Amino acid sequence: MIAPVAAGLAALSMVAAAPVEQTIAKRAAPGQADIDTVILNYALTLENLENAFYRDHLPSKAAFSKAGYPSWVHDRFTEIGGHEKAHVAFLSKALGDKAVKECTYDFGVTGVKSFIATSQLLEGVGVSAYLGAAQNITNTDYLTAAGSILTTESRHSAWVQSSVAKSDAYGATQDTPLNFNQTYSLAAPLIKSCPKSNAALPVTAFPAASISPAAPKVGQTVTVTSSKLKSGQKLAFITGGGVVAFADINDGKAKLPAAVGFGRTYGVIVPGDAKTVTDENTVAGPVAFDILPTASEAAAFYSQ
Ligand SMILES: *[C@@H]1O[C@H](CO)[C@@H](O)[C@H](O)[C@H]1NC(C)=O
Ligand SMILES: *[C@@H]1O[C@H](CO)[C@@H](O)[C@H](O)[C@H]1NC(C)=O
Repeated sequence: MIAPVAAGLAALSMVAAAPVEQTIAKRAAPGQADIDTVILNYALTLENLENAFYRDHLPSKAAFSKAGYPSWVHDRFTEIGGHEKAHVAFLSKALGDKAVKECTYDFGVTGVKSFIATSQLLEGVGVSAYLGAAQNITNTDYLTAAGSILTTESRHSAWVQSSVAKSDAYGATQDTPLNFNQTYSLAAPLIKSCPKSNAALPVTAFPAASISPAAPKVGQTVTVTSSKLKSGQKLAFITGGGVVAFADINDGKAKLPAAVGFGRTYGVIVPGDAKTVTDENTVAGPVAFDILPTASEAAAFYSQ
Protein backbone atom coordinates (compact mmCIF):
# COMPACT_ATOMS: atom_id res chain seq x y z
CA MET A 1 0.00 0.00 0.00
CA ILE A 2 1.16 3.51 -0.71
CA ALA A 3 -0.65 5.05 2.26
CA PRO A 4 2.44 5.66 4.47
CA VAL A 5 4.26 7.37 1.62
CA ALA A 6 1.29 9.58 0.80
CA ALA A 7 0.85 10.46 4.48
CA GLY A 8 4.53 11.32 4.78
CA LEU A 9 4.36 13.52 1.72
CA ALA A 10 1.29 15.32 2.99
CA ALA A 11 3.06 15.96 6.28
CA LEU A 12 6.09 17.28 4.41
CA SER A 13 3.94 19.67 2.36
CA MET A 14 2.38 20.94 5.56
CA VAL A 15 5.64 21.67 7.32
CA ALA A 16 7.60 22.88 4.33
CA ALA A 17 5.32 24.31 1.67
CA ALA A 18 3.37 26.85 3.71
CA PRO A 19 6.30 28.94 5.06
CA VAL A 20 8.07 28.62 1.72
CA GLU A 21 5.14 30.07 -0.23
CA GLN A 22 5.04 33.02 2.13
CA THR A 23 8.75 33.58 1.68
CA ILE A 24 8.49 33.54 -2.09
CA ALA A 25 5.72 36.13 -1.97
CA LYS A 26 7.77 38.31 0.38
CA ARG A 27 10.93 38.14 -1.74
CA ALA A 28 9.35 38.65 -5.13
CA ALA A 29 10.20 42.33 -5.32
CA PRO A 30 9.36 43.87 -8.74
CA GLY A 31 12.17 43.46 -11.25
CA GLN A 32 14.24 41.38 -8.86
CA ALA A 33 14.68 37.69 -9.62
CA ASP A 34 14.10 35.58 -6.53
CA ILE A 35 16.88 33.02 -6.34
CA ASP A 36 14.81 30.45 -4.44
CA THR A 37 12.07 30.56 -7.08
CA VAL A 38 14.72 30.14 -9.76
CA ILE A 39 16.26 27.18 -7.93
CA LEU A 40 12.91 25.49 -7.33
CA ASN A 41 11.97 25.91 -10.97
CA TYR A 42 15.36 24.51 -11.91
CA ALA A 43 14.66 21.49 -9.66
CA LEU A 44 11.17 21.20 -11.15
CA THR A 45 12.67 21.26 -14.66
CA LEU A 46 14.66 18.15 -13.74
CA GLU A 47 11.78 16.46 -11.92
CA ASN A 48 9.46 17.06 -14.90
CA LEU A 49 12.03 15.37 -17.08
CA GLU A 50 12.44 12.38 -14.73
CA ASN A 51 8.68 12.04 -14.30
CA ALA A 52 8.14 11.96 -18.08
CA PHE A 53 10.97 9.47 -18.48
CA TYR A 54 9.52 6.87 -16.09
CA ARG A 55 5.91 7.54 -17.07
CA ASP A 56 6.39 7.30 -20.85
CA HIS A 57 9.41 5.07 -21.42
CA LEU A 58 9.29 2.20 -18.93
CA PRO A 59 9.48 -0.93 -21.12
CA SER A 60 6.84 -3.63 -20.56
CA LYS A 61 7.13 -6.42 -17.98
CA ALA A 62 7.53 -8.83 -20.90
CA ALA A 63 10.47 -6.79 -22.21
CA PHE A 64 12.14 -6.85 -18.77
CA SER A 65 11.59 -10.58 -18.54
CA LYS A 66 13.02 -11.11 -22.03
CA ALA A 67 16.07 -9.05 -21.04
CA GLY A 68 16.59 -11.37 -18.04
CA TYR A 69 15.15 -9.26 -15.21
CA PRO A 70 12.58 -10.51 -12.67
CA SER A 71 9.21 -8.73 -12.70
CA TRP A 72 9.86 -6.93 -9.39
CA VAL A 73 12.51 -4.82 -11.19
CA HIS A 74 9.75 -3.44 -13.42
CA ASP A 75 7.59 -2.86 -10.33
CA ARG A 76 10.35 -0.94 -8.53
CA PHE A 77 10.85 1.30 -11.57
CA THR A 78 7.10 1.99 -11.43
CA GLU A 79 7.59 2.94 -7.78
CA ILE A 80 10.46 5.31 -8.66
CA GLY A 81 8.26 6.88 -11.34
CA GLY A 82 5.62 7.46 -8.66
CA HIS A 83 8.21 9.24 -6.51
CA GLU A 84 9.21 11.54 -9.37
CA LYS A 85 5.56 12.35 -10.00
CA ALA A 86 5.18 13.25 -6.30
CA HIS A 87 8.29 15.48 -6.47
CA VAL A 88 6.73 17.31 -9.43
CA ALA A 89 3.48 17.78 -7.47
CA PHE A 90 5.34 18.99 -4.37
CA LEU A 91 7.49 21.57 -6.20
CA SER A 92 4.59 22.69 -8.42
CA LYS A 93 2.42 23.30 -5.37
CA ALA A 94 5.14 25.30 -3.62
CA LEU A 95 5.74 27.44 -6.74
CA GLY A 96 2.05 27.98 -7.52
CA ASP A 97 1.51 29.90 -10.78
CA LYS A 98 5.29 30.37 -11.16
CA ALA A 99 5.82 26.63 -11.69
CA VAL A 100 7.34 25.64 -15.04
CA LYS A 101 5.41 23.06 -17.06
CA GLU A 102 6.60 19.83 -18.61
CA CYS A 103 8.56 20.03 -21.88
CA THR A 104 8.77 17.47 -24.68
CA TYR A 105 11.76 15.14 -24.53
CA ASP A 106 13.86 12.70 -26.49
CA PHE A 107 15.47 10.14 -24.19
CA GLY A 108 16.63 7.85 -26.97
CA VAL A 109 15.28 4.81 -25.14
CA THR A 110 15.21 1.79 -27.45
CA GLY A 111 14.74 -0.99 -24.91
CA VAL A 112 15.40 -2.24 -21.39
CA LYS A 113 19.18 -1.73 -21.56
CA SER A 114 19.04 1.92 -22.66
CA PHE A 115 16.17 2.58 -20.22
CA ILE A 116 18.32 1.34 -17.31
CA ALA A 117 21.37 3.30 -18.53
CA THR A 118 19.31 6.50 -18.81
CA SER A 119 17.83 5.91 -15.36
CA GLN A 120 21.36 5.56 -13.94
CA LEU A 121 22.41 8.78 -15.66
CA LEU A 122 19.34 10.77 -14.54
CA GLU A 123 19.29 9.62 -10.91
CA GLY A 124 22.99 10.48 -10.56
CA VAL A 125 22.50 13.88 -12.20
CA GLY A 126 19.56 14.49 -9.86
CA VAL A 127 21.79 13.86 -6.84
CA SER A 128 24.52 16.14 -8.23
CA ALA A 129 22.03 18.89 -9.10
CA TYR A 130 20.41 19.06 -5.65
CA LEU A 131 23.84 18.89 -3.99
CA GLY A 132 25.24 21.70 -6.12
CA ALA A 133 22.18 23.94 -5.67
CA ALA A 134 22.11 23.56 -1.87
CA GLN A 135 24.59 26.39 -1.28
CA ASN A 136 22.39 28.84 -3.22
CA ILE A 137 19.10 28.22 -1.37
CA THR A 138 18.40 31.05 1.06
CA ASN A 139 15.27 29.70 2.77
CA THR A 140 16.18 26.94 5.23
CA ASP A 141 12.73 25.30 4.94
CA TYR A 142 13.45 24.83 1.27
CA LEU A 143 16.88 23.48 2.05
CA THR A 144 15.30 20.74 4.20
CA ALA A 145 12.66 19.97 1.55
CA ALA A 146 15.34 19.82 -1.18
CA GLY A 147 17.54 17.66 1.06
CA SER A 148 14.69 15.23 1.65
CA ILE A 149 14.28 14.83 -2.12
CA LEU A 150 18.05 14.52 -2.61
CA THR A 151 18.36 11.56 -0.23
CA THR A 152 15.47 9.81 -1.98
CA GLU A 153 17.06 10.33 -5.41
CA SER A 154 20.27 8.99 -3.96
CA ARG A 155 18.55 5.74 -2.90
CA HIS A 156 16.97 5.42 -6.35
CA SER A 157 20.45 5.72 -7.83
CA ALA A 158 21.87 3.18 -5.34
CA TRP A 159 19.11 0.69 -6.12
CA VAL A 160 19.62 0.94 -9.89
CA GLN A 161 23.40 0.60 -9.52
CA SER A 162 23.27 -2.34 -7.12
CA SER A 163 20.07 -4.39 -7.46
CA VAL A 164 19.56 -3.83 -11.17
CA ALA A 165 23.06 -3.31 -12.61
CA LYS A 166 24.68 -5.66 -10.03
CA SER A 167 27.34 -3.05 -9.39
CA ASP A 168 28.30 -0.70 -6.55
CA ALA A 169 25.50 1.20 -4.77
CA TYR A 170 27.70 3.83 -3.15
CA GLY A 171 30.46 4.65 -5.62
CA ALA A 172 32.57 7.06 -3.65
CA THR A 173 32.92 8.36 -0.10
CA GLN A 174 31.19 11.59 -1.16
CA ASP A 175 28.79 12.41 -3.99
CA THR A 176 29.62 15.00 -6.64
CA PRO A 177 27.94 18.42 -6.80
CA LEU A 178 27.30 20.14 -10.15
CA ASN A 179 26.45 23.80 -10.68
CA PHE A 180 23.41 25.03 -12.60
CA ASN A 181 24.95 25.30 -16.06
CA GLN A 182 26.74 21.97 -15.71
CA THR A 183 23.51 20.20 -14.73
CA TYR A 184 21.54 21.91 -17.46
CA SER A 185 24.19 20.86 -20.00
CA LEU A 186 23.45 17.21 -19.16
CA ALA A 187 19.66 17.68 -19.31
CA ALA A 188 19.47 19.96 -22.38
CA PRO A 189 20.22 17.28 -25.01
CA LEU A 190 17.15 15.37 -23.77
CA ILE A 191 14.81 18.41 -23.96
CA LYS A 192 13.19 19.04 -27.36
CA SER A 193 11.00 22.04 -26.61
CA CYS A 194 9.31 23.73 -23.65
CA PRO A 195 6.08 25.72 -23.32
CA LYS A 196 6.64 29.41 -24.15
CA SER A 197 4.91 30.33 -20.88
CA ASN A 198 7.74 28.72 -18.84
CA ALA A 199 9.94 31.29 -17.11
CA ALA A 200 13.39 31.35 -18.75
CA LEU A 201 15.97 29.99 -16.33
CA PRO A 202 19.35 31.76 -16.15
CA VAL A 203 21.20 28.70 -17.40
CA THR A 204 23.17 27.92 -20.54
CA ALA A 205 24.16 24.51 -21.89
CA PHE A 206 27.82 24.07 -22.73
CA PRO A 207 28.80 22.26 -25.95
CA ALA A 208 28.49 18.48 -25.66
CA ALA A 209 31.36 16.11 -24.94
CA SER A 210 31.35 12.34 -24.81
CA ILE A 211 33.77 9.58 -23.94
CA SER A 212 34.09 5.98 -25.01
CA PRO A 213 33.85 3.48 -23.45
CA ALA A 214 31.00 4.97 -21.43
CA ALA A 215 31.96 3.14 -18.21
CA PRO A 216 35.76 3.30 -18.06
CA LYS A 217 38.14 2.14 -15.33
CA VAL A 218 40.94 4.14 -13.73
CA GLY A 219 44.10 3.78 -15.79
CA GLN A 220 42.12 3.14 -18.96
CA THR A 221 42.59 5.31 -22.05
CA VAL A 222 39.31 6.75 -23.31
CA THR A 223 38.38 8.38 -26.59
CA VAL A 224 37.11 11.94 -26.10
CA THR A 225 34.68 13.41 -28.64
CA SER A 226 33.44 16.98 -29.00
CA SER A 227 32.96 19.46 -31.82
CA LYS A 228 35.07 21.88 -29.71
CA LEU A 229 38.06 19.56 -29.34
CA LYS A 230 41.42 21.19 -30.21
CA SER A 231 44.95 20.05 -29.60
CA GLY A 232 46.48 21.07 -26.25
CA GLN A 233 43.24 20.77 -24.27
CA LYS A 234 42.77 18.73 -21.10
CA LEU A 235 40.02 16.64 -19.62
CA ALA A 236 39.26 17.73 -16.03
CA PHE A 237 37.57 15.26 -13.67
CA ILE A 238 35.04 16.47 -11.09
CA THR A 239 34.20 14.04 -8.28
CA GLY A 240 32.99 14.27 -4.67
CA GLY A 241 36.38 15.72 -3.81
CA GLY A 242 35.90 18.60 -6.27
CA VAL A 243 38.16 18.88 -9.32
CA VAL A 244 40.58 16.08 -8.58
CA ALA A 245 42.62 15.51 -11.69
CA PHE A 246 43.42 16.47 -15.25
CA ALA A 247 44.46 14.33 -18.20
CA ASP A 248 46.06 15.61 -21.39
CA ILE A 249 44.00 14.92 -24.48
CA ASN A 250 46.25 13.71 -27.27
CA ASP A 251 44.71 12.87 -30.65
CA GLY A 252 41.33 12.57 -28.94
CA LYS A 253 42.60 10.15 -26.30
CA ALA A 254 42.96 10.67 -22.54
CA LYS A 255 44.13 8.32 -19.77
CA LEU A 256 42.07 8.28 -16.58
CA PRO A 257 44.43 9.21 -13.71
CA ALA A 258 44.39 7.16 -10.47
CA ALA A 259 43.39 10.29 -8.51
CA VAL A 260 39.90 10.11 -10.08
CA GLY A 261 39.08 7.15 -7.80
CA PHE A 262 35.59 5.64 -7.68
CA GLY A 263 32.05 6.93 -8.11
CA ARG A 264 30.09 9.30 -10.32
CA THR A 265 32.58 11.41 -12.23
CA TYR A 266 32.05 14.31 -14.59
CA GLY A 267 34.59 15.05 -17.31
CA VAL A 268 34.92 18.60 -18.63
CA ILE A 269 37.12 19.71 -21.53
CA VAL A 270 39.16 22.74 -20.48
CA PRO A 271 42.11 24.68 -21.97
CA GLY A 272 45.59 23.20 -21.45
CA ASP A 273 46.55 25.84 -18.87
CA ALA A 274 43.40 25.44 -16.72
CA LYS A 275 43.98 24.96 -12.97
CA THR A 276 40.33 24.36 -12.12
CA VAL A 277 36.91 24.16 -13.82
CA THR A 278 34.69 27.24 -14.02
CA ASP A 279 31.78 28.19 -16.28
CA GLU A 280 34.15 30.63 -17.97
CA ASN A 281 36.86 28.10 -18.89
CA THR A 282 34.54 25.21 -19.81
CA VAL A 283 35.08 24.27 -23.45
CA ALA A 284 32.65 21.34 -23.50
CA GLY A 285 30.90 18.94 -21.15
CA PRO A 286 30.34 17.75 -18.57
CA VAL A 287 30.13 14.15 -19.67
CA ALA A 288 28.85 11.86 -16.89
CA PHE A 289 30.27 8.45 -16.14
CA ASP A 290 30.42 6.01 -13.25
CA ILE A 291 33.62 4.30 -12.14
CA LEU A 292 32.33 1.47 -10.01
CA PRO A 293 34.57 -1.13 -8.38
CA THR A 294 33.59 -4.78 -8.16
CA ALA A 295 32.97 -5.91 -4.57
CA SER A 296 36.39 -7.53 -4.34
CA GLU A 297 38.12 -4.45 -5.85
CA ALA A 298 36.37 -2.25 -3.27
CA ALA A 299 37.24 -4.58 -0.39
CA ALA A 300 40.87 -4.76 -1.50
CA PHE A 301 41.05 -0.96 -1.80
CA TYR A 302 39.47 -0.23 1.59
CA SER A 303 41.41 -2.87 3.51
CA GLN A 304 44.75 -1.37 2.47
C1 LIG B 1 25.67 29.78 -6.19
O1 LIG B 1 26.66 29.95 -5.18
C2 LIG B 1 27.99 29.92 -5.68
C3 LIG B 1 28.93 30.00 -4.48
O2 LIG B 1 28.61 31.07 -3.68
C4 LIG B 1 28.20 31.08 -6.65
O3 LIG B 1 29.50 31.03 -7.17
C5 LIG B 1 27.18 30.96 -7.78
O4 LIG B 1 27.29 32.07 -8.66
C6 LIG B 1 25.77 30.90 -7.23
N1 LIG B 1 24.85 30.67 -8.35
C7 LIG B 1 23.76 31.40 -8.53
C8 LIG B 1 22.94 31.01 -9.73
O5 LIG B 1 23.43 32.30 -7.80
C1 LIG C 1 25.53 30.18 -16.44
O1 LIG C 1 25.13 30.73 -17.64
C2 LIG C 1 24.52 32.00 -17.49
C3 LIG C 1 23.99 32.41 -18.83
O2 LIG C 1 25.00 32.35 -19.79
C4 LIG C 1 25.51 32.98 -16.93
O3 LIG C 1 24.91 34.23 -16.76
C5 LIG C 1 26.01 32.46 -15.62
O4 LIG C 1 27.03 33.30 -15.13
C6 LIG C 1 26.54 31.06 -15.78
N1 LIG C 1 27.02 30.54 -14.50
C7 LIG C 1 26.25 30.23 -13.43
C8 LIG C 1 26.97 29.71 -12.23
O5 LIG C 1 25.05 30.31 -13.40
